[in-house]
Order: sequence, then C-alpha cells, then structure tokens
Amino acid sequence: MRILLLTHAFNSLAQRLQAELHERGHEVSIEFDIADSVAEEAVALFKPQLIVAPYLRRAIPESIWSRHVCLIVHPGIIGDRGPSALDWALQAGEAEWGVTVLQAEAEMDAGPIWASAVFPLRAAKKSSVYRNEVAQAAVTAVLQAVERFAAGDFTPTPLAACSAVRGRLRPLMKQSERTIDWQRDDTATVLRKIHAADGFPGVADSLFGEACHLFDAWPEAALRGASDAKPGDMLARRETALLRRTRDGALWIGHAKRAGGFKLPATLAFAAESAALPEAPLGNWWRADGETWQDIAYEESDGVGFLHFEFYNGAMSTFQCERLRSALSWARQRPVKVLVLMGGADFWSNGIHLNVIEAASLGEGSPADESWNNINAMNDLARELIETDGQITVAALAGNAGAGGCFLARAADLVWAREGVMLNPHYKNMGNLYGSEYWTYLLPRRLGEQGVGERSRALMRNRQPLTALRAAQTGFTDACLAGDIDTFRIDVARHAAEIAAASDLAERLTEKRERRVRDEAEKPLAAYREEELAHLRRNFYGFDPSYHVARHHFVRKSPASWTPRHLARHRDLDWRVPA
Ligand code: COA
Repeated sequence: MRILLLTHAFNSLAQRLQAELHERGHEVSIEFDIADSVAEEAVALFKPQLIVAPYLRRAIPESIWSRHVCLIVHPGIIGDRGPSALDWALQAGEAEWGVTVLQAEAEMDAGPIWASAVFPLRAAKKSSVYRNEVAQAAVTAVLQAVERFAAGDFTPTPLAACSAVRGRLRPLMKQSERTIDWQRDDTATVLRKIHAADGFPGVADSLFGEACHLFDAWPEAALRGASDAKPGDMLARRETALLRRTRDGALWIGHAKRAGGFKLPATLAFAAESAALPEAPLGNWWRADGETWQDIAYEESDGVGFLHFEFYNGAMSTFQCERLRSALSWARQRPVKVLVLMGGADFWSNGIHLNVIEAASLGEGSPADESWNNINAMNDLARELIETDGQITVAALAGNAGAGGCFLARAADLVWAREGVMLNPHYKNMGNLYGSEYWTYLLPRRLGEQGVGERSRALMRNRQPLTALRAAQTGFTDACLAGDIDTFRIDVARHAAEIAAASDLAERLTEKRERRVRDEAEKPLAAYREEELAHLRRNFYGFDPSYHVARHHFVRKSPASWTPRHLARHRDLDWRVPA
C-alpha cells in the first residue's frame, strides 16, 4: 500500500514506523504537519491508500479525514483522550498503560478503534517510556491496524461499543498541576512529577532563586532522612548535576532550562551559582552502591568489563567525552578480556553536545571553538577505543544512536544493537556537517570498500534511519539482539563472557593487533582525522553558516517550515503514482 506518515516531526517513533512499514513492502512517504494546506497538497500528490499519524500536535483537517482513513497513534489506553496522556498516567502512578490506534474524526481522539496494545508502566521518565514501551506498543498496534485495513473486511470498534473502558478525556496538564511543594512532597512525589514532565515541558520551579524548568531527576539514597538543610535547599554538585534537599531526603537535578533559554546540564545553566556549592565526588569509576546520580559507571563479571555512560539525550560534551575517555583508559588496565561499552538505557550516543555548543553563544565563548573542542574530544575517545589492543571491545546499543554516536560505536570491534533501536549513521541533517570520529576509516571497511566509496557515500547522502535489524543486514553492525532492555543486558553479558572464555581469544587479539598495525602502515589514523577535520574546519569556521543555523534551530526547537526532500518522496520531481 501507499502509506503517508503525517507527523509533527520525524522522531524515533516515526522513523521506526517508516522502517517497519517499508520492510513489509509498503510504499511510505512522509509529510510534516505544518499547515492544513501543506497536508492537503501531500495527499493530492501521493494519493495515499492510508494515512498514519504517529505524532501530531494538531487535529487533521476534515478535508482529509472525511475522504481518507487516517489512523492516529494515541499514547494512551482505550478511551483515554487529550494531549497529556502519558503525563497523567505517570503522575498518577498507573500500573498499566497502552497505545491506541484510532480513526480520525471530528472529535479529537474519539474515533473508532483499529487496534491497541498495553504494557506495564515503569516509574520512569516520560521520554524514556515514550521511546521504549510506547514505541514498541505503537509498532505492534499500527502493524495490526494496517493489516486489518489491508484485509478490507475489518470494522473498527466505536468507543461506545468497547467494554470496561478505563480511559477518559483529560485536559492538557497545566504547570499548576505539576508544581512541586518542596515542604510537603516527599522524594518519590518530586521524582514522579519531574519524570512525568521529562523531555517536554519540564516542571516550572526555581533554582538559586531564578525561575527555570527542571528535568532529569535522580534519587539519592545516602541522604535519606539525614541533614539539617531545609527542603528545597541546594546541597552539592557532582560533574553536571545538582543535589537538592527534599522533605525526606534528596535528589539530583541533571538538567534545567532557564526562562527564554534552552535545556542545559544544571551546572552549566547555573554556572556561577553551582560553582559555590560543595562537590560530592564519587571518587572512582566503579558503580556506586545504592541509588545516586552517576553518569559513568563501571562493573565487572566473568572476565568482562562493562562501562555504562548515561548521558542525557545521548549528547556528549567536551567535558563528558574527556571523562569517558579517562574511564575507558582506566578500564583498559583492568584484568578483563572483553570491554563492553553499554551507553545509557535510552541512548547510546547522539554525538557532540549541540546544546552545550549553542550555550557558548550566550556568553563570551564561540560556538565554533566549542564545536571544534567537542569533535576533537569525541575523536580522542574514538581513537582510545580503536587503539584498545588488550581486549575485544563491544558497543552494546540498548538505546538509539545518531550521527557521531554511531561511528563512535563502530570504533569498537563489535557492535550489537537491541531490536527496536534506531540508528542514524549520517551527519548531513545538521547543516551538511561532514562529520569525523574516523568515519572515513571505520565505515568503508565495514561496507567492504577501499576508501570512501559509493556505498559509504550513499549511506551518508540518503540520511535514512536504520532499524537494528537492517543495520545488521547492511553490515553496519554485527548483530541484532531481541528483547527488552533487561533481556538485552543479560544476552550481552552472556555473549561477552563467551568471547572472554573462548579458546581462540588470544588468536583473536593477535589478529586484531596485527590488523591495526597493517591499517596504520597503510594510512595512519592521524591522516584520516586531519582530512575529516579539514572539512569540519570549513563547517565551523567557513563562510557557509549552514551548520550554525541548523544547530540553532535544533536546540531552540524551531518549528519545521518544510519537510526535507529525502523524506517527502511524493515531492520528488520524478514521483508518479503507480498506474
Ligand atoms: N546534542 C544535544 N541534544 C541532542 C542531541 C545532540 N547531539 N541529539 C539529540 N538531542 C536531544 C534533542 O534535542 C531532544 O531533546 P529534548 O529532550 O529536549 O526533546 C532529545 O535529545 C531527543 O532527541 P529526538 O530528536 O527527539 O530523538 P530521536 O531519537 O527521535 O531522534 C536523532 C534521534 C539522532 C535523529 C536526533 O536526535 C538528531 O538528529 N540528533 C542530532 C545528532 C547530531 O547531529 N549530532 C551532532 C553531530 S555528531
């Protein structure tokens, strides 16, 4: 079928649906929901047999839904309606939640139901639940709905005919319903409120007496019940996060957005104020006992070292890259045979930290210089990984990876991704960025090319997201492992322990060392880096400002004004509806 995805943005859910539908033989094109007239034009050009809306912020116009079946993906259980579905469910601590695929009609979210799926609701950040459970349930329900539509004999169930409906119409959740009462709310309540607003819009509050929105909260076990500070007081800082007193303990605030600004690591959003707080260092890289905020954590079992890096949104600033490199270089000295880079639960890495770079424009700094520092710190980290010769290295992607993050993963000997993960191994979306992280060395050899050839160039040019399965099929990764995050971690640990215990390990390590020596003799890593950086110097310091403009819009979340041509296939000059 010809399926049009009408969506507010090409987010990871839309990417996944596009890929899953394409893999099932459907012809999929995408239009951003910018204005009714633009959507109408897309429908006229593509003549879709079905329209699927994975992520909308406005109603579909009657001119479209009255003539075409439009399936809306609603992140709520049957009967739930309104724009803050997940926020209400998380704040209420619902045990089970779901996704409903319903047909667009005049009344928002009230149309007949084509399919639905449920899942146990984790007490976690909204953005995390959205990228994991919601995305998985949405894929299941959309694929079922599409099959039912294609069969032609399915009648969707009107809401009134559904039995035991728990869901109901809920309004947009207002900031007044998210407010934290630092005197009354216990730690669990504060966490729940910040989690329910994570990603967007955050909880309106204040830090150091300045209005801001809070994101990215983590519990701290050590201070439960202790301390004579008042609830709401700032207690300490650690790397990029701030520790704040609650009524019955304390919690960490990882990110904040000041009025008129954008989301930043909390210690950067309030740099001067944070500097005056005492430091609460962890002292080493080992995973700390008990709940706390720890962005880099190391653990070991069965001859395998696991390095976790839980960087918010997968963005890696100069400082974070440098710290991760220190941790990696320390882990290389451990008596382990396999080193697994685990990344974080939601993201493995999305490359350089565009928000921190943008923040340089707020003060005396230069975003070009900060971009340069950041990419060099990424490169140093990638080189540390490429040059790890005493262990087999594995990048285990439980969460998504994009741009430089994909190539950092490829710097490991093996890349294993969890089914459901999306990879975007290309840079051009960010203002035609050339990219670095030694991609010109790492990518061609994966795709069986001598030097950057047509296959590598096509991957960069086409800018298409890859599912974990597709990434393994194309050879970009080495394996796709099924299951949820817990199952994935168990599988990764088992496979890594097998490699560590295998009789051919010494041979494998020798082969790896010899290959690196051969590659270095043929063309040194420094040469690849210098060539990539020559392009990036132009991206950062040249007279074409595309990268700076794209980053500015990305960080400040400027609404899209058109759909990129590589997504809107129906806008290709040679597009014709098949006869
Ligand atoms: N720096 C800073 N923030 C980043 C980031 C980066 N490199 N990559 C993603 N983010 C943030 C987004 O702004 C968004 O922030 P929010 O929590 O305020 O909404 C969040 O991470 C999630 O991003 P989103 O785009 O919603 O995730 P996705 O999984 O749907 O899409 C990508 C993934 C990779 C396609 C998309 O995030 C992207 O294009 N990122 C930029 C990658 C890049 O160009 N890096 C620089 C070159 S190395």
